[in-house]
Amino acid sequence: MKIIIINGPNLNLLGIREKSIYGDQPFDSFLATLRKEYAQISIDYFQSNTEGQLIDKLHEVGFSYDGIILNAAAYTHTSVALGDAIAAIKTPVIEVHISNVHAREEFRHKSYIAKYCKGVIAGFGFNSYRLALTQFLLPA
Ligand code: DQA
Repeated sequence: MKIIIINGPNLNLLGIREKSIYGDQPFDSFLATLRKEYAQISIDYFQSNTEGQLIDKLHEVGFSYDGIILNAAAYTHTSVALGDAIAAIKTPVIEVHISNVHAREEFRHKSYIAKYCKGVIAGFGFNSYRLALTQFLLPA
């Protein structure tokens, strides 16, 4: 099984950025743990701060991978183009958020991508990614 985790803008600063919301663990160390826990799954990783690069990556993997775990970060709440990209590809996408976006500012309650995703997982810290990964292992 081939899965990719795609992280959007500012998520390169996890472990440094707004620790009270996003925690103090760098994403790299979480990813290493996840890869050990699920050694039978190939877990690729891509992060970009640029909307177009995220779209290009979705196009690149979206016809051959088994699943995409996408934290589009702030672009979740702004990007019609990312929603269109998810609608255009075949691979199922799970939208994830580290924080519970519905318990935060109102502008974070809107997602331009959720409609095109298989489901949404938010509010469980880095476990949001772990839950999304295990979802891909369950029977459809
Ligand atoms: C986030 C929530 C977004 O609202 C925010 O812009 C982020 C991170 C999360 O994982 O909780 O950058 O996607």
